[in-house]
Amino acid sequence: MKLKDKVAIVTGGNQGIGKAIALAMAKEGAKVVIVARNAVRLKETLSALQSLCPYSLAIEADIGEESQIKDMVHKVWQNFGRIDILVNNASITGPTKSAVEISAEEWEEVLRINLLGTVFCCREVLRIMMQQRSGRGRSRGA
Ligand SMILES: NC(=O)c1ccc[n+]([C@@H]2O[C@H](COP(=O)([O-])OP(=O)(O)OC[C@H]3O[C@@H](n4cnc5c(N)ncnc54)[C@H](OP(=O)(O)O)[C@@H]3O)[C@@H](O)[C@H]2O)c1
Repeated sequence: MKLKDKVAIVTGGNQGIGKAIALAMAKEGAKVVIVARNAVRLKETLSALQSLCPYSLAIEADIGEESQIKDMVHKVWQNFGRIDILVNNASITGPTKSAVEISAEEWEEVLRINLLGTVFCCREVLRIMMQQRSGRGRSRGA
């Protein structure tokens, strides 16, 4: 098992690619924490994860909110005492309409979740990884 006992956070881990990443990591022995907004999908995915690793965790959080990211990372640290892997998978597609129709508020939502959410997840987890002097991160498309 390549990830035995590693603690991994997967943002957007309750569906799609994030769910597939979370399940693959759990199969390799990781204790996986999935983070997303939709509680129903979090619960469903958590039960699949827990059949692979009983220590898996689901945290309902919006990565577009800095305070929720801080609380989420603190909960993971309280639960496991370390964080080894961060997968920045969560994002929104944003409005699918003509560029001339997209409002400032719509752009701000995309930037808040896709850009700042990723940056703040990295920052909060990095603080812990720097104390541990170990850890790995990966972002979508990287
Ligand atoms: N599918 C593709 O072909 C493709 C290609 C290249 C890159 N990607 C990238 O790969 C990643 C996953 O793609 P996908 O197709 O699996 O996407 P998806 O099905 O739309 O899933 C997005 C995930 O992000 C979560 N999420 C969105 N906003 C969030 C927020 N504010 N806070 C917390 N979680 C949030 C969603 O959960 P909740 O809604 O419950 O919060 C969901 O779990 C995305 O970043 C996407 O841009 C996808």
